[in-house]
Amino acid sequence: MSRPKITLKLATSLDGKIALSNGDSQWVTSEASRAHGRYLRAENDAIAVGANTAELDNPRLTSRVPGQKNPTRIVYDTTLRLSMSSNIVTSANETPSWVFTRGAECEKSEALRAVGVKVHAVTDQDGLSLTESLDIMGQGGIRSLLVEGGGMLIASFVRAGLFDTIHWYRAPVLLGGDGRDCVGTLSLTNMGQAVRLHRMKVSTVGQDLHEIYVKKD
Ligand SMILES: NC(=O)c1ccc[n+]([C@@H]2O[C@H](COP(=O)([O-])OP(=O)(O)OC[C@H]3O[C@@H](n4cnc5c(N)ncnc54)[C@H](OP(=O)(O)O)[C@@H]3O)[C@@H](O)[C@H]2O)c1
Repeated sequence: MSRPKITLKLATSLDGKIALSNGDSQWVTSEASRAHGRYLRAENDAIAVGANTAELDNPRLTSRVPGQKNPTRIVYDTTLRLSMSSNIVTSANETPSWVFTRGAECEKSEALRAVGVKVHAVTDQDGLSLTESLDIMGQGGIRSLLVEGGGMLIASFVRAGLFDTIHWYRAPVLLGGDGRDCVGTLSLTNMGQAVRLHRMKVSTVGQDLHEIYVKKD
């Protein structure tokens, strides 16, 4: 079963931050970039976020593009801390919601399933296994995945080399070194390990830059 095509979406300040240190992130980029990003959502079968983003932002993760379907929402959530009152959970009967977790047989998983959320168990190996989750997505008919953050989840995909394209929206604003990074720890020890990219396109969306990169083999 082939894995979905993976796009990483970064919406950052000029200095590569996605939020303040306290998690406040609304909004880093302009309304024009966010609208552009919603079209990107509509082009993908699924959107993934980490548990911190689900908790701090309570996102809807819908495309809201007229005439387009909403993708499946996916949360990587080791301990099932996703709130039952979150937007992703309460709208699971209208728009599919999946959770990857390490143990799918517990009271919370039953409660999530009862309101229509699909709960999938994958191995926890210092973070939930991306390869297992991608296999499950492939089996479920998901052919394209947009990973929207935050920085820790993006870093896991980058560390594993599991991405095809990066869409980077960059706003002319500075959030400082104490802000949250758009790509978390990669634990590189020499420049030969640096993740090198080809820049395929640069355009402007209002005052923001929109850059498209592919992985350099
Ligand atoms: N500017 C933007 O467009 C944008 C977009 C998204 C997010 N944000 C901001 O980013 C911040 C959150 O980012 P973050 O980097 O702190 O966290 P994150 O990437 O959203 O979530 C990380 C958490 O996901 C869970 N996880 C499970 N498996 C994982 C794996 N294989 N790899 C990585 N994480 C895994 C872990 O929590 P458990 O151990 O509990 O499972 C981990 O702590 C928020 O402030 C949010 O507002 C901004």
